[in-house]
Amino acid sequence: MSIRAIYPGTFDPITCGHTDIVSRATRIFDRVIVAIAASTSKKTVFNVTERAAFARTALAEIDKVEVCTFDGLLANAARGHGATVILRGLRAVSDFEYEFQMAAMNRKLIPEAETVFLTTSGRYGYISSSLVREIAALGGPVTEFVHPAVEQALYERVRR
Ligand code: COA
Repeated sequence: MSIRAIYPGTFDPITCGHTDIVSRATRIFDRVIVAIAASTSKKTVFNVTERAAFARTALAEIDKVEVCTFDGLLANAARGHGATVILRGLRAVSDFEYEFQMAAMNRKLIPEAETVFLTTSGRYGYISSSLVREIAALGGPVTEFVHPAVEQALYERVRR
């Protein structure tokens, strides 16, 4: 049986921490679908088309991955893509409560799927998209955290 995992998020923008999770997940699952939420409670710097384009660029060298966008419930997107796993990354204990709540809610909304967590590699444990945006806005180096194409776009968009 082929197992498809959906990895949802805002990805504003995708970071090396996300790429690391996707790359490791492809060793476990037959297909990893990176699903970019069009509308979230977050005010995004990049629109969903841009966020998807960055994800495609950053993940181009990893096999068994596809990038899609979705609007509305993740449960519906997961069903639409035939995913039976919802993949999330855990960086620190502080992520846990929110993730636990989301996993429990998604279990109600899509009981046929299981949420699976991968812990982030140590060197990416402190990254978040908003920190990366803030560093770029203040002219700091983000080379270590994002793909070069994303770095360039970030400076053009957020540099004050
Ligand atoms: N490496 C680096 N950063 C990581 C990371 C990793 N491995 N894992 C998470 N992060 C960061 C993200 O960059 C993000 O940072 P930010 O807050 O600075 O933007 C933060 O951790 C968590 O955000 P993200 O992983 O993008 O998830 P999210 O919380 O923004 O996404 C959705 C939430 C989109 C998955 C959720 O809102 C959703 O499912 N929405 C659809 C509607 C729905 O179904 N709602 C009901 C859900 S039960």
